[in-house]
Amino acid sequence: MTDISLTVNGVPRTASAEARRLLSDFLRHDLGLTGTHVGCEHGVCGCCTVLLDGEPVRSCLMFAVTASGHEVTTVEGLGGDGMSPVQQAFQDCHGLQCGFCTPGFLCTVTALLRDNPRPTDEEVVEGISGNLCRCTGYQNIIKAVHRAADLIAEEGTGP
Ligand code: FES
Ligand code: FES
Repeated sequence: MTDISLTVNGVPRTASAEARRLLSDFLRHDLGLTGTHVGCEHGVCGCCTVLLDGEPVRSCLMFAVTASGHEVTTVEGLGGDGMSPVQQAFQDCHGLQCGFCTPGFLCTVTALLRDNPRPTDEEVVEGISGNLCRCTGYQNIIKAVHRAADLIAEEGTGP
């Protein structure tokens, strides 16, 4: 076992885990942050996407120890006290059905809109191409990304 220290959603966290512990399992089981979902467990579905120093990563493909000393943002940390503009937009546009893929989409889209505040449809499709939704609600997800861009522009905040 080794102590793994990192910042999660702005809070310094330390927990003891095996060196081979995956970041997804570390977040869910050792830190109790079950908002990060696990689907395929081999890097295909994107459900487990979190932000590592602001960049989307598949937490099922990373060892937790690799994230030591870094900042991780999970779906629980996107909105602060309320919903983030991206979360609000997914609600407004019915951008989720069962919701299993949603935390991964929210993290991916948060980074996408930070880097490209007014993406075209094609850029949205490209940006979310690493996240699979088995409910196949992609049209509403694309609408939600544009809605989030509007909310961010109206509020003058970040995603
Ligand atoms: Fe990580 Fe599917 S659970 S990519
Ligand atoms: Fe069900 Fe995407 S909303 S898998």
